[in-house]
Amino acid sequence: MLKEKHATEIEEIISRYPVRRSALIPLLYLAQREEGFVSEAAMKEIAGLLRLTPPQVYETATFYTMLNLKPVGKFHLQVCKSLMCGLAGSDTVIGWVKTKLGIGPGEMTTDKLFSLSAVECLAACGTAPMMQVNEDYYERLTEETFDRILADLKKDGTCSLKTGPFMWPEPANAVKGET
Ligand code: FES
Repeated sequence: MLKEKHATEIEEIISRYPVRRSALIPLLYLAQREEGFVSEAAMKEIAGLLRLTPPQVYETATFYTMLNLKPVGKFHLQVCKSLMCGLAGSDTVIGWVKTKLGIGPGEMTTDKLFSLSAVECLAACGTAPMMQVNEDYYERLTEETFDRILADLKKDGTCSLKTGPFMWPEPANAVKGET
């Protein structure tokens, strides 16, 4: 249960917003941080916390590709398929994943090390094609850099080619330093 483990954080998140339901996405992300994906049980619990119905939570959780609705690999590859990345070769990147790891979108390797999702724009259109691996961005992908990323992740769990982590927006008062 999320509330048992994260009662203080949950209250802090809800307190950021004038309307309880506005805390929905941060709480879904908290659930994903906890389990690696957003389970049905977590969605039901969040619905109770925010006084929503489970379908209201489900319809939001299924809209955003950054929320995983089933377990993902230790390294979750999220290849952008939107227009700019599509023009720059996202299908080719997905082909590399298929050739080198044997998985397609929505699948995970048998050793549970890698999984793949095709996702919508990740706001790095100027450096397409790109993918996000867990929290990190990898941009201007070529087959050579892609091979290096896979090799480094397998060997060290990280790769120096990353260009920065994905950042969730800070609460407004934290950004401005207001109280
Ligand atoms: S189209 Fe791929 S990051 Fe925007």
